[in-house]
Amino acid sequence: MNQKSWDGRFSSKTDREVEAFTSSIHTDKRLYAYDIEGSIAHCKMLAKTGVLTEEEASQLVQGLGRIKREIAEEKFIFDDSLEDIHMHVEARLLQQVGKVALKLHTARSRNDQIALDVRMYLKDEVSDIITGLVKFQSVIVTLSRTHQDVILPGYTHLQRAQPVLLAHHFMAYYEMFSRDIERLRGSLLRIDVMPLGSAAIAGTTYPIDREYTAKLLDFRQVSANSIDSVSDRDFIIEFLSVASLCMIHFSRLSEELILWSSFEFGFIEIPDAFATGSSIMPQKKNPDVPELIRGKTGRVFGNLMAILTMMKALPLAYNRDMQEDKGPLFDTVDTLKACIRIYIKMLPQLKINKEVMRQATDRGFLNATDLADYLVVKGMAFRDAHGCAGRTVGYALSKNKEIHELSLDELKSFSTLIAQDVFEFLTPERMIGRRRSAGGTAPENVAAAITRAEEHLGKERSIDA
Ligand code: ARG
Repeated sequence: MNQKSWDGRFSSKTDREVEAFTSSIHTDKRLYAYDIEGSIAHCKMLAKTGVLTEEEASQLVQGLGRIKREIAEEKFIFDDSLEDIHMHVEARLLQQVGKVALKLHTARSRNDQIALDVRMYLKDEVSDIITGLVKFQSVIVTLSRTHQDVILPGYTHLQRAQPVLLAHHFMAYYEMFSRDIERLRGSLLRIDVMPLGSAAIAGTTYPIDREYTAKLLDFRQVSANSIDSVSDRDFIIEFLSVASLCMIHFSRLSEELILWSSFEFGFIEIPDAFATGSSIMPQKKNPDVPELIRGKTGRVFGNLMAILTMMKALPLAYNRDMQEDKGPLFDTVDTLKACIRIYIKMLPQLKINKEVMRQATDRGFLNATDLADYLVVKGMAFRDAHGCAGRTVGYALSKNKEIHELSLDELKSFSTLIAQDVFEFLTPERMIGRRRSAGGTAPENVAAAITRAEEHLGKERSIDA
């Protein structure tokens, strides 16, 4: 059995089951590359400040590099008795380079080490997620550009409300994901803080240079307070809450795809590659992918709730409870990334049933507001016009007709202001065309929004390149 790095004061061995219970290696081995990069930077800093000799540091750095390759090539043996990734690397380093390995942990603790690893990991993942979301936004914009002339009923309370452009509807999602990207960028500022050198809680007596470590590891700044550095998990909670919001947006889009692909709506078809059949009902094609995204949203909320609850009322500074943060964090990162990837693939392949959408705008009195607007244009006060249009709807309902299916004489019986031009006024195309207020659904507004988005995404891509 391995000698533990902390067992100096212990007179008996750890219970086997306790070993398994306290071990986090199955989860945190995922952080190995960051853990090793962090240790390499730490060694270099210790050499620069004279805590280690150049010779010692270079032996350690070489050994660490070899261990990183071993793990990458899956030649490394993991073992519960070594608890976590930090102790695995250190134990292997001892085998590799001998006694000098015992100097690696100078001026450091696992408390600041794990905080460093997770911050490095999350910096990379958040950047990746932002890149993915920008790609997804491009997909939304392309889809909007391609279907600029498609009209469908807009809904409030899931009741047909007013006709809108499909592109306007899709561009609403562009806005949501823009906010998510902004939030992720904001959260990066708080993730990008270097905790190493805080040691267990109080800082260290060695003459270390934390700014240098931060520079080597490409951190913007070093943390200001050693107690906060080892006890802070706000950045994880912040990420999990931003991820939850992002999943809300995916779940709303998913719900719409599920509804729209139903027989009742018939607005779209989900590509075969993203649907499955039923083992008993031969006619079925189920929208499993959007359903699962809707379902996984619950998991992501649960992960946020788990960490909130875990952190609530924890006394300062580090507590072992905090080891439980990794499972929910990794799960959220993986789930969100998978949803982004699958949406990028699925959305361009949606089949849009333009005619069905257009026809749906003909039924459900979507032009009632516009009849009132028509009367206002002809000189009636809006409140009177609203009442008049309401009575017209009531009459049409009793005849089982739409407003535009009534005869001119029938319409005139509600107001003598109504003339033949009312029929053209009440077509969905005209209704949409008149909604030119900023942010409204008029085609020129939507085209301008798409162009703005394309320009913005072009800049994003050039930053990325
Ligand atoms: N494995 C721990 C975690 O994930 C890091 C080590 C914490 N320090 C300690 N003294 N047990 O949080």
